[in-house]
Amino acid sequence: MGRPMTALFRGVGITRRFRLPRRSLLEPVESLTALDNVSIEIPTGAKFGVVGESGSGKSTLARILLALDQPTEGEVYFDGRIISGASPGELGDLRRDVQVVLQDPRSSLNPRMRVFEIIAEPLRSLGVAGDERGRVLELLDAVGLSTASMDRYPHQFSGGQRQRIAIARALAPHPRAIIADEPVSALDVSVRAQILNLLQDLVRDFGLTLVMVSHDLSVIRYLCDYTAVMYNGEIVESGPSERVHENPTQDYTRRLLAAIPTMDGSLLERVRAVEGDDREGEHDET
Ligand SMILES: Nc1ncnc2c1ncn2[C@@H]1O[C@H](COP(=O)(O)OP(=O)(O)O)[C@@H](O)[C@H]1O
Ligand SMILES: [Mg+2]
Repeated sequence: MGRPMTALFRGVGITRRFRLPRRSLLEPVESLTALDNVSIEIPTGAKFGVVGESGSGKSTLARILLALDQPTEGEVYFDGRIISGASPGELGDLRRDVQVVLQDPRSSLNPRMRVFEIIAEPLRSLGVAGDERGRVLELLDAVGLSTASMDRYPHQFSGGQRQRIAIARALAPHPRAIIADEPVSALDVSVRAQILNLLQDLVRDFGLTLVMVSHDLSVIRYLCDYTAVMYNGEIVESGPSERVHENPTQDYTRRLLAAIPTMDGSLLERVRAVEGDDREGEHDET
C-alpha cells in the first residue's frame, strides 16, 4: 500500500497556449497549443528524461517546472506546494531549490565575468551564507576544473569546459533538483559522454533529482531511470526507462527507438572509453 516515492514535481493537466502574433488587426487571434493536458510525476531522486522531437513541447514543460513560465490551464506542484500562479513570495525556496542548465553555456555565462564571479553570483543573489571562496573551489573540483580556472573568462574554455562551469554555477546554491535542457546537444560526441558521466556522478554524490530534456533518445536511455516521451504537446508514453525502451507501447516511441541504434552504440562506446577518467575536463576539446 501507499506510494514508494513522493513526487518532487507534479503537474496536473498542464496546458500551455501561446497567442500567435497577428499581421493585421483584422486577422482572428490564433493560438498554438505547446502543451496539451500534460500530467507528470517526477519522483524525488529520479533521473527523469523527457524526450521528443523538436517542437514537441519539452522546453515549454521545463520552463513551467522552473516557474519561469505559467500554464494556461492546470497546476504544478514542487514538493507538495503549488508553484503555478504563485507570487515570488509564495514560491518560497524554489528559485534556490531548482536550478537549470541550458544547451548553450555561452548564453548563460556572462562573458565579462570571471569564473569565480559566475559561480559565486547565485550564492549572493539567492542569499546563500557561508565561505564563498571555499564553495567555489569545492565546485570547481566537483566538475573537474582546476583552481586556476576561477581567474579566467568563459571564452578561454572549450565548449565542454564551459558546460562544466554552467553546471558548477547551477550546483552552487545547493539545489534539490537540476533541470537540464539539451545540455549536451551542442557538444562534440566525445565531450558529450564526459558531461553525461559528470552529471550522473554529481546527481549521485549530491543526492539530486535530475530532469533531463533531450531530443536524443540515446542520451535519455544512457542516463535516465524514467522516460517520458513527448509528441505534439502531449506525453504519449512514460514509465521506468527499461519498460519504455524495451517494451514501448506507442508507435511513436518505436519510431524514435528505431531511429537511433547506430548513434546509441557509438555514444555508449565513447562513454565506456572515458569512464574512470575523472580529470578529462582539463583537456577536452573546443
Ligand atoms: N514564447 C513562445 N511563443 C510562441 N510559441 C512558442 C513559444 N515558445 C514555444 N513556442 C512553440 O511551442 C511549441 C513547443 O516548443 P518547445 O517547447 O520549445 O519545444 P521543444 O523544446 O520540444 O523543441 C513550438 O511549436 C514552439 O514554436
Ligand atoms: Mg527545446
